[in-house]
Amino acid sequence: MTVSSAPGKVYLFGEHAVVYGEPAVPCAIERRATVAVEPRDDDHVRVEAEDLTLDGFTVEYSGDANDRPDVDVPTPLVDAAMGYIDAAVEQARDALGAPDAGFDVVVESDIPLGAGLGSSAAVVVAAIDAATRSLGRELDPREIAERAYRAEYEVQDGQASRADTFCSAMGGAVRVEGDDCRTLDAPNLPLVVGFDGGAGDTGALVAGVRALKERYDFAARTVGSIGDVVRAGERLLADADPTEEPDEVLLSELGRLMDFNHGLLEALGVSSRSLDNMVWAARMADAHGAKLTGAGGGGCIVALDPTEETETALRFTPGCEDAFRAELADEGVRAEDDRAARRREDEGES
Ligand code: PMV
Repeated sequence: MTVSSAPGKVYLFGEHAVVYGEPAVPCAIERRATVAVEPRDDDHVRVEAEDLTLDGFTVEYSGDANDRPDVDVPTPLVDAAMGYIDAAVEQARDALGAPDAGFDVVVESDIPLGAGLGSSAAVVVAAIDAATRSLGRELDPREIAERAYRAEYEVQDGQASRADTFCSAMGGAVRVEGDDCRTLDAPNLPLVVGFDGGAGDTGALVAGVRALKERYDFAARTVGSIGDVVRAGERLLADADPTEEPDEVLLSELGRLMDFNHGLLEALGVSSRSLDNMVWAARMADAHGAKLTGAGGGGCIVALDPTEETETALRFTPGCEDAFRAELADEGVRAEDDRAARRREDEGES
């Protein structure tokens, strides 16, 4: 099998506002989705999903996604996961010029679904890379990012920015403003993630912000203010030495901007009680700053803290299911064939 992986991400700044052309700065983290692909002799697609924080499932279908046998898991979850894989397979077929190519696809992920860590983008990016490589075509990470964006755009009815997919394909910290996507030389930030075990409905949350923005000028200005926070944040990052550990001054200034960004997202109605609880737990533990990450409504927060305090405080916070340090993932999409082969060899030996 041809195996690829791609990282999830946190938003240091700028979710939601990025949908309206403001800049955003997401950072890839070392939680990855891994997709293994084997070409088939027919035009069927068979998908096996494991560890998607939902019960594993297997679906085989031919042609389009409507032609699907019954499966034993709730339909919205299958539809959500399958929609992304369908769209990724379509992009791979298009890149290969092989509209009838069939694939066996196995998805594994340690990124919680719909929790603001970019799980769908990571799956789509890794799937496009593995499917194209399985038929002998190696795509440039920028082309994978572009195709993954088109796949997400289609599944999310046009409510997607390029932030998640570009960050997952390229790795590291990136800056996205409309179609302009760049990698950043950022220092290794001490990120801590808290997860409430839940998920937000990205489409509904984006639609809610859009409605507020259309109704009230002050909501539109709030979106613009998020853009101002991002611009201030990126100036701080640009002035920092990426080879040095970030100092206290930089961390406290970035943290203050994260706090501000969270307040503006809260005002736009996309936070939740459990997200606010975790943000406050992090602040009370002397994190430099904390904010929700991603669409909101439930899912994850990200805090800045080089000490163990925030992680420990989050573990004792009611409503927080998991807390972990999130290392910046320097590598975006990558081939895992050698690693997978080595693992099989090790398993064979033991
Ligand atoms: O929750 P996530 O990781 O899918 O992030 C959504 C981020 C939004 O800005 C709300 C939407 C987008 O596509 O940028």
